[in-house]
Amino acid sequence: MSVILETQGLTKAFGGLVAVNAASMRFIERQPHAIIGPNGAGKSTFVNLLTGHLPPTSGHVLFKGADITGQPAHKVTRLGIGRSYQKTNVFPSFTCFENCRLAAQSRLSTSMRFFRSARSYRDINDHAEKALTLCGLGKRRDRAAGSMSYGEQRQLEIGMVLATGPEVLVLDEPLAGMGKEESEMMVGLLKELSARYTLILIEHDMDAVFSLAEVLTVMVNGTVIESGPVEQVRASKAVQDAYLGDGAEAY
Ligand SMILES: Nc1ncnc2c1ncn2[C@@H]1O[C@H](COP(=O)(O)OP(=O)(O)OP(=O)(O)O)[C@@H](O)[C@H]1O
Ligand SMILES: [Mg+2]
Repeated sequence: MSVILETQGLTKAFGGLVAVNAASMRFIERQPHAIIGPNGAGKSTFVNLLTGHLPPTSGHVLFKGADITGQPAHKVTRLGIGRSYQKTNVFPSFTCFENCRLAAQSRLSTSMRFFRSARSYRDINDHAEKALTLCGLGKRRDRAAGSMSYGEQRQLEIGMVLATGPEVLVLDEPLAGMGKEESEMMVGLLKELSARYTLILIEHDMDAVFSLAEVLTVMVNGTVIESGPVEQVRASKAVQDAYLGDGAEAY
């Protein structure tokens, strides 16, 4: 079991507000890992730091042992860390295939700008087709993204991440706004993907978290208060007091 991604003392301050406070986490290859916590806990900020969308105030991000702190998002994507966003992010007038193709291009073609051979176009198309199949939208290939259901659009977003050829999938609330059936479909998809990719999941839906994750990290007010195997974290008094406890909303 090897560590694929790690943060050491990762911190982000917005003025006087410390959104992420010395967060140290380890992500093991192909071990699905969920990060939970109340609204404003710093989960999305942590994702932004992990994927180069924000520079940290201090601390480090290591990918396969190499320090990638401060690398811009497009480089982090190219290294193999793909991410989705908390809000839907597809191009509505483009087809599913075109959306995936654009995503694949962002990873593959920039470095080949002066060598746009037929081969590189084929590679990009190939990545896009495979990603569509993997996310379960093979039959929707030529549908405009905006004409599909909300659940399918979120599914397409997963396809767009897959089209970038990642090893790690960082998904920020992939179930947000979904109904029961759509959620079940998405959980099934993520379960399949978790065998092939290292899944890092930010999610409020605790049924999904418990059915997908092997490791759970809990953040409260920017700080990691507990991390470990799901059952251990679930039983933790600190977690129950701070988050899972009273009101039991999360259950
Ligand atoms: N760009 C920014 N500038 C200033 N403050 C920010 C910025 N981004 C986030 N914050 C603040 O940092 C804190 C953490 O926000 P973040 O979005 O990371 O929380 P979260 O755990 O993802 O919450 P949610 O579950 O609601 O998505 C919040 O207090 C938020 O208002
Ligand atoms: Mg968030």
